[in-house]
Amino acid sequence: MEPIDQNDLPEIVPTHIAIIMDGNGRWALARGLPRLAGHRAGTENLRRVIEACIEFGIQYLTIYAFSTENWGRPQEEVQGLMKIFEDVIDRELQELHDQGVQLRHIGRLDQLDPVFQEKVLHALEYTRHNRRLVLVVAMNYGGRDEIVNAIQRMIQDGVSADEVDYDLVSKYLFTAGVPDPDLIIRTSGELRGSNFLIWQGAYSEWYFPPVYWPDFDKDQLRLALEEYSHRERRYGRVAAAKDEQS
Ligand code: FPP
Repeated sequence: MEPIDQNDLPEIVPTHIAIIMDGNGRWALARGLPRLAGHRAGTENLRRVIEACIEFGIQYLTIYAFSTENWGRPQEEVQGLMKIFEDVIDRELQELHDQGVQLRHIGRLDQLDPVFQEKVLHALEYTRHNRRLVLVVAMNYGGRDEIVNAIQRMIQDGVSADEVDYDLVSKYLFTAGVPDPDLIIRTSGELRGSNFLIWQGAYSEWYFPPVYWPDFDKDQLRLALEEYSHRERRYGRVAAAKDEQS
């Protein structure tokens, strides 16, 4: 991969980008390959995108690896995906650690295979002091499920109604301590949120590149960041006067 010229960075680099890595299946279909070959190509691409994020100075990258709805896929595909995730931890953990990547998980870990759970917990513990890039892996994750889980735990903790505000809800989400995503990217041209970060993404910018995930390369990421640089985030307010804009 060509290193990035530091004078050639986009004007504003978001702190946190989140990605719905969509289109692995169609990428494979277009090549006459099985869907799992698309997921393997998507996995190789993820490695490249992580490296590019580090080079661009992005601090948080959240990826949608497996949703609470993905259990409805054919069993062979679900098992194949779980095997890919396990292999990635076995093969890539040390290199991710050496690159300064801290792993975090969001979603329901307790519903996954116990051996896999152990591996995930080990990976989180092993990398927890790393600061270069926080890689948040949404695995068995759903935004509505996350909010239900937060409400359940608030009730279990005896939180009273007048204590509930935006900050408290955020603290009960799986993403506690992670800043909200500035930019959410969904590859493959699909224009939906699909239950991803529905609380955290309330004011995120969205970007929908018309390429399948395995083809979303560093140049595509750069285009996304350039587009983001030119967006004006208003958070429900009116546009700032020209001379007040920074
Ligand atoms: C969507 O493609 C992708 C997924 C269901 C997620 C799987 C992602 C990877 C394997 C990338 C690597 C991730 C990790 C954590 C190692 P799709 O199957 O929905 O594509 P389609 O819409 O074209 O069928």
